[in-house]
Amino acid sequence: MAKILIKGGRVIDPASNTDKKADVFIEGGKIKQIKAGISASANVAIDASGLIVCPGFIDAHVHLREPGFEEKETIESGSKAAVAGGFTSILCMPNTKPVIDEPALVDFIIEKSKEVGLADIYVVAALTKNSEGQELSEMVHLADAGAVAFSDDGNNVDNAQVMRKALEYSKLADKPVLVHAEDSDLAGEGQVNEGLMATKLGLRAMPALAEEVIINRDIELAKITGAKVHFMHVSTAGSVELIRKAKKDKVAVTCEVTPHHLLLDDSMLRDFDTNLKVKPPIRSKKDTKALLKGLKDGTIDCIASDHAPHARHQKEVEFDYAAFGMVGLETLFELVHTNFEKDLGLLDLIAKVSANPARIFGLEAGAIKENGIADITIIDPKAQVKVDSSKFYSKSQNTPFKGWQLKGKIDQVIKRGRVVFKDGKVVE
Ligand code: DOR
Repeated sequence: MAKILIKGGRVIDPASNTDKKADVFIEGGKIKQIKAGISASANVAIDASGLIVCPGFIDAHVHLREPGFEEKETIESGSKAAVAGGFTSILCMPNTKPVIDEPALVDFIIEKSKEVGLADIYVVAALTKNSEGQELSEMVHLADAGAVAFSDDGNNVDNAQVMRKALEYSKLADKPVLVHAEDSDLAGEGQVNEGLMATKLGLRAMPALAEEVIINRDIELAKITGAKVHFMHVSTAGSVELIRKAKKDKVAVTCEVTPHHLLLDDSMLRDFDTNLKVKPPIRSKKDTKALLKGLKDGTIDCIASDHAPHARHQKEVEFDYAAFGMVGLETLFELVHTNFEKDLGLLDLIAKVSANPARIFGLEAGAIKENGIADITIIDPKAQVKVDSSKFYSKSQNTPFKGWQLKGKIDQVIKRGRVVFKDGKVVE
């Protein structure tokens, strides 16, 4: 295995609160030394002057679509998209076909991801059988097979008693439950956020309340069970406020936000761009402001992509018929770096995609430390890039960010001591 010396970069490691100029020496897949002026001999030397050296990113919310929807994404194409976006670890959601509700399916994903050998793929297994919200999955067996969390993402768990039991069992497995908060009756057949824009466009609406009543319910269930609850893709001002208060009350809740809920608002729907059709829906300007405030004050722990690839024929149709979701692995970092670096500072921004998800999901990743795994992302913070979806490694191109001019780019990615992304290309 190669010896790699990264010279003269700005090393930012939120886990150890480090932001300093240093060299990093990697050997045998591990970080051996971090200090200024390392003179070890190496087969790969990387001049990182002017660049940022940080932990390989972790995306807590990715849809890989395999098995069952390989026309949208596969474990291989999703892994390539991940490293191209600076992610060396991702959590994949169970809404595949079949749904990941059996230990053998967890094995399948882990084995396949090892064959591909690019990013570490951590499996989120279904909370209920076939994610139907009725009967609990074999949570302890799924955890034994390697699942790191449970979720019925894409679907709400409507029955509070089922959720309560699921939270009790999650404690036996000692894994968090990830909540897709969307009251099915309140959301109904809604296509977009409830508000003036929905009325103007004549589209059925999903109210903020549909998310907030479930967040409220599950905070109460977290309180009574003592289980760990992580709210996914939080999108409303009310949700942020509920989670802020729960954290203050020491309830074991955490949450994530996506770049699209931070950056887009429902006034942008006027062209009926189906790439803007996601769940939860793109909300109002007031919500985006509250999300940013929550990100800054630590209420929101992580930034996750909710990478949701869909084939062209599922998106290039009338708004009502289009699938919910957008891709995000290959634009997340550039989007948040361009727009929120000043608000958050680099250390906190990077923490939201490294140290924080590592802590929440108990992953051995997300830090630059001696004898730690050599997962490293090197960023050129000054480079200008234009989003070109035709160059994505993802099999799908459903992004509303096409043509956006962004600042900062992924320069190189090292996974377990191997360069896996360089010169804008995945190294196979
Ligand atoms: O927009 C979304 N798409 N939201 C989800 O929660 C699920 C996802 C998907 O699987 O396509």
